[in-house]
Amino acid sequence: MLKNEISQNLFVQTTKVTRAQREGLNNNRAFTLWFTGLSSSGKSTIAAELEAQLFAKGYRTYILDGDNTRLGVNSDLSFSKNDRTENIRRVAQISKLFNDAGIIVIASFISPFKNDRNGARNIIGEDSFIEVFIDSSLEVCKKRDPKGLYKQALAGKIKDFTGIDSPYEAPASPDIHLHTDATLPDECVKTIIDWLNATNRYQL
Ligand code: ADX
Repeated sequence: MLKNEISQNLFVQTTKVTRAQREGLNNNRAFTLWFTGLSSSGKSTIAAELEAQLFAKGYRTYILDGDNTRLGVNSDLSFSKNDRTENIRRVAQISKLFNDAGIIVIASFISPFKNDRNGARNIIGEDSFIEVFIDSSLEVCKKRDPKGLYKQALAGKIKDFTGIDSPYEAPASPDIHLHTDATLPDECVKTIIDWLNATNRYQL
């Protein structure tokens, strides 16, 4: 049976409790901060610090991180172009569910392809999707290389590695652009929190 033949037989089920009510109970608006950037650009470090600060203020938060989700729900996916597309589609759907539950999501994925990020924006919804470009030069990422992956990729031991033999398409107009070559994680977190506070629909 074809995929669209199956969906013809499916019906959206309504619930009595709404997203707005869940947000009200949590006392925060729900949205997804979508971090994109090269491996070692600082996504996970900034995500962890941002979550800690938001959580300390009483906001309901959750981090979705590429390494973690690829060890779990996405453990069947490789780093081919098609599998990266499927990786991003699935984590965008998960982000949408978390937002519907009234939870602020920090999604931290290389997400190197513009089309995939646009797909995530469509799934999560324009009003709930904030694109954050964690921008570090490839040179600096290669030098940092905390997991030793660039070294292995350069030696040909890992294939399809982003920045080495697989492309990274930088966002043209991200909502927030952080230059992590020259900015410390704490300062990046402050920039994000200031941006949220200055933007009516996300105001913390
Ligand atoms: S994405 O491109 O599909 O968005 P994702 O963020 O989920 O990637 O996973 C990236 C993480 O997987 C990196 O932080 C790195 O630790 C690990 N990794 C392993 N192999 C690769 C590879 N070929 N390219 C990029 N990252 C890889």
